[in-house]
Amino acid sequence: MGKVKIIIGKKMLCGVLGIPGVGKTTVLNAAAENVELKRLNFGNYMFAEAQKMSLVKDRDDMRKLPREQQADLQQKAAEQIYKDSRDGNAIVDTHGSIKTPQGYMPGLPENVLRALNPDAIVLVECDPRDICARRNRDVSRNRDPDTVEQVDEHQMMNRCFAAVYADLTNSTVLIVKNEEGKVDEAGKKIAKVFE
Ligand code: AP5
Repeated sequence: MGKVKIIIGKKMLCGVLGIPGVGKTTVLNAAAENVELKRLNFGNYMFAEAQKMSLVKDRDDMRKLPREQQADLQQKAAEQIYKDSRDGNAIVDTHGSIKTPQGYMPGLPENVLRALNPDAIVLVECDPRDICARRNRDVSRNRDPDTVEQVDEHQMMNRCFAAVYADLTNSTVLIVKNEEGKVDEAGKKIAKVFE
């Protein structure tokens, strides 16, 4: 028997944040089996703009661009996502903070946050050792070779950024653990945000 999807009466926008390789996209695929929603990947929107401007060839190079260029791409992505997310429930798959060579940069600086105006924020996290292992296994991407301690620090920074985002938009923050082999469990928890 197919899964029963939750029927929603209201429209919500949820920002899903997590560090590279935590499994956001995998978990959001699972969430979409439980609730009708549009999934919008912030990185895809930024990458499309970056390619138009011939700034990068690989999406994993965007976080190494000068901060001003990344900020410009963020603004363009947010404007388009705003337009594309108006007609129903939506999830924006993105980053709480970007680890640039100069330090952590907000994934949702105030101009972007105000444009998206999320109702809820979900932080996807897991054991830093699992994130390192997932990055190493996933050869399709060029993710940073961080140590377990660096991954731990990045997740801690994401909590700090999420708290600020929630304060500025009066939204909630839910922490969802994407434990090894438990993708469906994490997906169901995210789907419940829309109930
Ligand atoms: P993006 O495309 O979001 O890159 P990412 O963070 O690396 O996200 P991915 O979708 O590749 O990884 P994921 O965490 O979703 O993990 P996945 O599901 O693949 O962003 C690209 C770039 O865009 C960023 O680097 C940044 O430059 C830019 N960007 C995006 N948002 C931005 C913003 N707001 N501001 C500025 N820049 C922004 O899973 C990884 C692996 O783990 C897979 O092999 C999967 O099979 C496995 N896995 C997942 N879950 C489990 C599990 N529970 N058990 C076992 N294996 C698992």
